[in-house]
Amino acid sequence: MGDLTASRAVPKHVAIIMDGNGRWAEQRGASASTGHKAGVEGIRKVLNASRDAGVKIVTLYAFSSENWQRPTPEVNALMRLFSGYIDSETRQLNKDGVRIRFIGKRDRFSRALLKQMDYAEQLTRFNREFTLVIAVDYGGHWDITNAAKTLAEKVEKGEMKAADITEEKLDYYTALADLAKPDLCIRTANEHRISNFLLWQLAYSEFYFCDVLWPDFDEAEMHKALEAYSQRDRRFGARPSSATGSAL
Ligand code: IPE
Ligand code: IPE
Ligand code: MG
Repeated sequence: MGDLTASRAVPKHVAIIMDGNGRWAEQRGASASTGHKAGVEGIRKVLNASRDAGVKIVTLYAFSSENWQRPTPEVNALMRLFSGYIDSETRQLNKDGVRIRFIGKRDRFSRALLKQMDYAEQLTRFNREFTLVIAVDYGGHWDITNAAKTLAEKVEKGEMKAADITEEKLDYYTALADLAKPDLCIRTANEHRISNFLLWQLAYSEFYFCDVLWPDFDEAEMHKALEAYSQRDRRFGARPSSATGSAL
């Protein structure tokens, strides 16, 4: 589907709230873990469709800071799936020129998992074809608080003054500061909320909601989302350029 890049606006960065694994499993009388497994298996095709369309960065919301409240067997299954994903996909992603990054708190994972995460990030750090960001133990509140804390420490040490704090400086210490902000945020499974995802970074993103449950979200669904994005009129608070003449 390379034609998407030719004439239409393609989002550079797509952020995805992968929701609906539990409902997908429930419909089949299966456990939530079965749904999560199916959800992980579907990631590859969505990444391929994104890359083929000309998207450069995909950020996946895999585990929120609130998801620790789920039943322990489910949390354990999610951690195992996450670890299995890194284990089985890193080599191929690296071959494909994909840089892998993780965002979120890192002090609640097992040592073994942390090692895997570090390895995947180190191995792929110079890749520039495509960036895959996985948000795990991530929360938008945590992200902004963390940036605020870093700035406060600098003030405390006398390295800067509180009056010198700007949006740009706070932005610098939030996750993904070095990347373009998400142009498009997709949420599956008919939920219309942000659930503590990239609160700061999504300020001017376009939102796309669909009913499809995440394990059923395939290439065709990704193309629908990209098509919808290409029809959007992004204004960033300004008067659209086509209207400037008549605005007075
Ligand atoms: C999304 O699927 C995956 C995670 C939150 C880890 P859910 O498990 O939230 O699926 P539903 O919302 O219960 O259907
Ligand atoms: C958001 O989904 C988190 C992820 C997709 C990882 P949830 O299913 O946890 O969100 P709520 O509870 O419906 O808001
Ligand atoms: Mg959910």
